[in-house]
Amino acid sequence: MNRGIQAIFSEVAERYELVNHILTFGLDRSWRKQAARLAARAGGTLWLDVCSGTGEMAESLRRYSDERARIVVVDFNAAMLARVSDKSAGRDFLLTIAEAGRLPFADRTFGLVTISFATRNINASTDALLKHLREFRRVLRPGGCFINLETSQPRHPVIKKLFHAYIKLAVRPVGTFLTGSRAGYAYLSSTIPRFYEAADFSRLLRQAGFARVDENPLFFGAAAIHVAQYEK
Ligand SMILES: C[S@@+](CC[C@H](N)C(=O)[O-])C[C@H]1O[C@@H](n2cnc3c(N)ncnc32)[C@H](O)[C@@H]1O
Repeated sequence: MNRGIQAIFSEVAERYELVNHILTFGLDRSWRKQAARLAARAGGTLWLDVCSGTGEMAESLRRYSDERARIVVVDFNAAMLARVSDKSAGRDFLLTIAEAGRLPFADRTFGLVTISFATRNINASTDALLKHLREFRRVLRPGGCFINLETSQPRHPVIKKLFHAYIKLAVRPVGTFLTGSRAGYAYLSSTIPRFYEAADFSRLLRQAGFARVDENPLFFGAAAIHVAQYEK
């Protein structure tokens, strides 16, 4: 399964950012900035961005972080990670190739863990997702914070229908056309309608051991930022 997902990201890596910016009308950038602003409140000097891809979230974190903060970037796909370093603007990101469910870090290492638009990829089943969320909590220091930016489900039934129609009629064909990867955008678009409503995802975060969870819906609920605290 993982090998299949890795192969998909190798196929789409070159045009991945362009497709996202087109399909979200540029909103994905401002959502990452919003998540990074919330992340900056967590403080601390060692931050981890998992499933970092081409590093756009790490770039937003860099903009809002203290000069002393070190940003560790993890992904299992080398083709995506190869595009990260041009975003560091001289502040070295520490790049690590690793599986998000088995992070090569000691318990209680980071003040902040972030993930953006990749939780759908670690959601092969609810159990698999919970295992990953517990892994993110394991590497957080008590008092640290986990920030999740992901597509979500609009609560209004009509908006939800329109959103799902847009995924089917635009995301899949436009992504396929721009990247040449039919399998890639069939997979990526299929994960969006299957993902959790914001309240259900909050429940999973609590089940994974996070104490306080805040939901921030974006664009009528098409996406959401969850801020989960690992209490001291
Ligand atoms: C949709 S991209 C998101 C990239 C980036 N976070 C963003 O905001 O655009 C998903 C990324 O997660 C990575 N990924 C998916 N499953 C993973 C796993 N189990 N372990 C590590 N990386 C994973 C993929 O290689 C890909 O780069």
